[in-house]
Amino acid sequence: MLKYNTPRRKRLGPRAPLGGVLEGRKTQYTRIWYSFGVDGKIMVIGGTGLVGNALLRTWTASRAEVAAATYHCHPSGGFLQLDMQDEAQVRALLEAHHPAVVAVPAANPFVDYCELHPAETRRVNVDGTLNVARACKDLGARMVFYSSDYVFDGLKGTYTEEDAPCPINEYGRQKAEAERGVLACDPRNLVLRTSGAYGWQWEPKNFVLQVRKNLSEGKPMRVAALRYNPTYVENLAEITAALVAAGAGGIFHTVGAEEVARDEFARRVARAFGLDASLIQTVPAAEFKSPTPRPKQSSLITEKVRRLLPGCPPIGVAAGLERMLAMEREWAVYARTLPDPAAKVSPK
Ligand SMILES: NC(=O)c1ccc[n+]([C@@H]2O[C@H](COP(=O)([O-])OP(=O)(O)OC[C@H]3O[C@@H](n4cnc5c(N)ncnc54)[C@H](OP(=O)(O)O)[C@@H]3O)[C@@H](O)[C@H]2O)c1
Repeated sequence: MLKYNTPRRKRLGPRAPLGGVLEGRKTQYTRIWYSFGVDGKIMVIGGTGLVGNALLRTWTASRAEVAAATYHCHPSGGFLQLDMQDEAQVRALLEAHHPAVVAVPAANPFVDYCELHPAETRRVNVDGTLNVARACKDLGARMVFYSSDYVFDGLKGTYTEEDAPCPINEYGRQKAEAERGVLACDPRNLVLRTSGAYGWQWEPKNFVLQVRKNLSEGKPMRVAALRYNPTYVENLAEITAALVAAGAGGIFHTVGAEEVARDEFARRVARAFGLDASLIQTVPAAEFKSPTPRPKQSSLITEKVRRLLPGCPPIGVAAGLERMLAMEREWAVYARTLPDPAAKVSPK
């Protein structure tokens, strides 16, 4: 059951569907249905994001009680506004809802922006995250924090959870610091490192949707051959829910099962969507003139999560794209219930 804060609901107008729209639409293709039993309520901080929205739909569909979902500047019906940089706001929200689990896919994940604005983004990615971690500790809630393959330098490749973080950019440094703080607060917390998440998305920013848009319009795309593990976001959400249900704590690599070069992945996306793969041009990473050094090969080993969750393993590119395509119509129906992502509000 979803709970709403009454004054906020009045301001947002009539109650809009919150992730629960897909509930009961069980099909053999689109959703793997597990029972993600959780004792107590779940809060998703950043329910408007790619990962946060998939989490919300996954938990709601499995009939877990999502106590609240938050937004920062993209309002949505039933979501509560939260700026996690404000510790008092974080505490007030958690105290009002008493969740047993708080998932935090909220962040500023724009790698170049982090590089150019380290102090501003650190306030969200490190200080904001740790505001939640401290409040969770005081209230006895477990926290799920999303980190990144960018905590590694990409020189060795194929990293395990045992490898020491060695970030080469500001985003990676912020993630590594937040990881340490989250686990120091409570070793029961989960740190999930992910990479290249893709899937249907309210604000269509992810790489697969960009490839689909450009190629559908006949536009060529220049893509570097950096190697990583693209991660189908619905699979990431299922693995998160299964780890939480299993009572797991510590660091897990939760990425797609397959390591692939980004240009090759783009061609596979093109073929899956019936688009012209020859529009993808491979270019050296240096041609992008990004301010941010990026790991050349930041693929992550997922053995640990496979051992713990043999029934809910990370999936590869073919299975991810197949599931995404099969979900297209279902997503289109759901997306009609969402507000315009361009309608931002000032968080202040
Ligand atoms: N996507 C990937 O490929 C990828 C790869 C590696 C790691 N990760 C990590 O996985 C997590 C989820 O990524 P994502 O792609 O789902 O990100 P996203 O789509 O950009 O969503 C970010 C969420 O954070 C919220 N948010 C931003 N600033 C906030 C603040 N000050 N207080 C509260 N909420 C705030 C946003 O709210 P509004 O929309 O309302 O502003 C949004 O809901 C992030 O930690 C990211 O660093 C992602």
